[in-house]
Amino acid sequence: MRMKTTSSASNSTENSSKNNTKNLADLSVIILAAGKGTRMKSPLPKVLHPVAGVPIVKKVIDAVKGAGATEIRVVVGHGEALVRKVVEPMGVTCYTQTNQWGTADAVKSADPDSLKGNVLILNGDHPLLEPIDIEKILREFNETQSAVAVVSSVVKEPGSLGRIVRHRGDLRAIVEAADASGETLKIREINTGIYVAKSDVLASYLPKIENHNSKGEYYLTDIISICQESGEKVTAIVARPSVGFGVNNQVELAKATRLLFARKRKTLMEEGVLMIDPKTTYIEEEVEVGPGTVLYPSVYLRGRTKVGAYCMIEPGCYLAHAQLADGVHLKAYTYLENATIGAKAHIGPFARLRPETEIGPEAHVGNFVEMKKTRFGARSKAGHLTYLGDATIGEDVNIGCGTITCNYAVDRKKYRTVIGDRVFVGSDTQFVAPVEIGSDSVIGSGSTITKDVPAKALAVARGKQVVKENWVPKQAADSQKNEDAGQ
Ligand code: UD1
Ligand code: CA
Repeated sequence: MRMKTTSSASNSTENSSKNNTKNLADLSVIILAAGKGTRMKSPLPKVLHPVAGVPIVKKVIDAVKGAGATEIRVVVGHGEALVRKVVEPMGVTCYTQTNQWGTADAVKSADPDSLKGNVLILNGDHPLLEPIDIEKILREFNETQSAVAVVSSVVKEPGSLGRIVRHRGDLRAIVEAADASGETLKIREINTGIYVAKSDVLASYLPKIENHNSKGEYYLTDIISICQESGEKVTAIVARPSVGFGVNNQVELAKATRLLFARKRKTLMEEGVLMIDPKTTYIEEEVEVGPGTVLYPSVYLRGRTKVGAYCMIEPGCYLAHAQLADGVHLKAYTYLENATIGAKAHIGPFARLRPETEIGPEAHVGNFVEMKKTRFGARSKAGHLTYLGDATIGEDVNIGCGTITCNYAVDRKKYRTVIGDRVFVGSDTQFVAPVEIGSDSVIGSGSTITKDVPAKALAVARGKQVVKENWVPKQAADSQKNEDAGQ
């Protein structure tokens, strides 16, 4: 027998389609992600493959979270340890499906009897889902007052997807392609792999599903015909084709990636970001870019990167978790990893700024300069061929060409170089860390600095120049003498 919902207003999910927020608050979700993903031919569990930089299953979790889901259960099996590691920090609960005996068995593994209200069930491999899709599905489910609904969509190439079989327009059954007749295979309305059911309907009918089919699996799709035959109201909610787009192989993964990158670019262009050649500009989901910023071809922005307004990012730049203030100019082929750049700074071409590097406003970092764990003050310059690691550089400092911090010592430890404000470092200088240079001092070119330098001093640490006048002719005369003596 099906349990009736209590009369308490806060518990009732029926007849409340006007109050959408409350419907969603009662929503529990089961995401099926235990399958092997054999057709991916990859050692990584299918749902962990990155789609535009994000694991496929995270896109599904984000979509249901965005629609207000409170209880999210993920069914794991194949590659369980790895999948748990990725999804558990997202605030979901994992349930193990010991044997992959089919989608109905997967739902049973998530202890559906303990759920109340409406239960949304989805495949974990649908990365194009968005919160608005879920909201629309739930609204229609409530409006139709069905016991169970399958989300369908009409596609050009139904291929191996389950077919929606209707009789005089009413949903009758879902037939898997492998079990379908030639006539059924012609149907272009397919099962997206998304379902909504009342929790008590699930509890009553899941145990009735059997595995008499070509794969010998327990198909969740059978719940439709079973419910229909038992006089329950079943419906098919038609959604746009992207909802049904599941990733089953590498070609589909690449297609999903392309579509998600395109979606992100469109959003940013609508917000005023300029792209010279959008198709070659790759921007991951969480990246932020301010209006008026120009992105040249072949720019790749990853992870938690934030770019301010009016920046210019030239071709071939790669930014991972980088933070750029307004008006930053990145010249071609600059590589930033977890680095922070102040307003109006100029970086590159061919600069590499590694983690924990902070560049001050209006600073200039030129070609073939590498920095790591370095604070580089406002308006300071390092124009050419330089390595600064574990260093603190003040403001208005000039770092000459070929300067190197020797931060790694024979004891295998890293040491810091500290340089005060307005220091002038001549070209080809090495700082053997730990070493500290006071403000306003000058370091002569070609110095190997091993000791601290006080403020306002001049430090020169190089071999003294020796000049021997008329040395070349004397040398020539000497060798002539030796030759003559030898004859
Ligand atoms: C399923 C549907 C099909 C639908 C298609 C949409 C069934 C029987 N068929 O087919 O009608 O058109 O999705 O994409 O449901 N899973 C488990 N445990 C299992 C088996 C599968 O967790 O024992 C998970 C998979 O990880 C995957 C999802 O369920 O996320 C769907 O499984 P998959 O094998 O991809 O089903 P399809 O053959 O695509
Ligand atoms: Ca699938």
